[in-house]
Amino acid sequence: MLEQLKDQPKDKILMLMELYKADPRETKVDLGVGVYKNAEGVTPVMRAVKAAEKQLWETETTKSYTGLAGDPGFTGGMRALVLGDAVPAECVAAAATPGGTGAVRQAFDLARMANPDVTVWASQPTWPNHLSILKHMGIPMREYRYFDDATCAVDFDGMIADLGAVKPGDVVLLHGCCHNPTGANLNLTQFGTVADLLNERGALPMIDIAYQGFGDGLEADAAGTRHVASTCPEVLIAASCSKNFGVYRERAGVLMAVQRDAAKTPIAQGNLNHINRQNFSFPPDHGARLVSMILADDALRADWQAELEEMRQGMLALREQLANELRRLTGSDRFGFVAQHRGMFSRLGLTPEQVETMREQNGIYMVGDSRINIAGLNAKTVPILARAIVESGA
Ligand code: LMR
Repeated sequence: MLEQLKDQPKDKILMLMELYKADPRETKVDLGVGVYKNAEGVTPVMRAVKAAEKQLWETETTKSYTGLAGDPGFTGGMRALVLGDAVPAECVAAAATPGGTGAVRQAFDLARMANPDVTVWASQPTWPNHLSILKHMGIPMREYRYFDDATCAVDFDGMIADLGAVKPGDVVLLHGCCHNPTGANLNLTQFGTVADLLNERGALPMIDIAYQGFGDGLEADAAGTRHVASTCPEVLIAASCSKNFGVYRERAGVLMAVQRDAAKTPIAQGNLNHINRQNFSFPPDHGARLVSMILADDALRADWQAELEEMRQGMLALREQLANELRRLTGSDRFGFVAQHRGMFSRLGLTPEQVETMREQNGIYMVGDSRINIAGLNAKTVPILARAIVESGA
């Protein structure tokens, strides 16, 4: 029977990881997968995470199951981190999931349980795995314009025009901050306009927030999500701890279902528990527990925030350096958007051929749509990248 299985398309981002690994050149530069790296090219275990792990090793007395929705200390801590006091706690049903991807998958599942005819709208472009999961689940998908290839900024008029066709009961997937793959983000006013439009259309906003703290800071990065949550009667939020706590392989994420009517929270909670049980039973705990320990302890939290802020500032400095270098080499402000974008990524607006030339000739690895991971750069590799971009004919 298994010989009936067909080859599956390879994930472009993961394929690039393999290609990079296999490249023997010492000068190669990895700007592919969205993993934070410091100037030495290392993805560090954050200091607060190490400290929490030590404490946990000393104090943990059992590895027995947690609840189906995970540890309430984790889901409550993440609710506060993402939503602040934008909505009352009793309006939020929440379940821990295996990473942000798990939360996205569970959100699609929940949406389909609520509306078997759901269509999910995603930005063009979006994280490729959003589309891949929807396809795998057989959920109809539509795209709305988002990125203006000419200016490398948000095409807000196009977005609003396309979202005008959204139907009641559709889900509209938004990126809370640090849009992946473009780096171009909605401002707060634009989030407000989108929220009003979705309210008018009777559509359900779903926010994927995987990079809180990597853009303009922990609070600023959550502002759009909080605004939508406080103005729309319902919202789904998939949040990841992979990047901002650096716990990628531990798979810590959370799905939140926010409803204005708190009386409806227990039903939503029961459904979140149910889909966890059906898909994998209990969510992983180790990463989630570290996160909850950090969020609950003043000293650990302060250290975590300080290190996250250092990472954010480092990425901002690399953005400035790259924009300046490209300004110097091209004599124009064509790439000025690199300094305006926020988060780990920028889409440079290069052709697939240019991207391939840079990989073959310069050993510079970026995703085929010309998405670069800013954190893959350092002060020495920025000029190398800038020169390669210009030499590729951009
Ligand atoms: C990325 O976009 O590179 C990250 O979210 C990692 C992944 O799983 O694709």
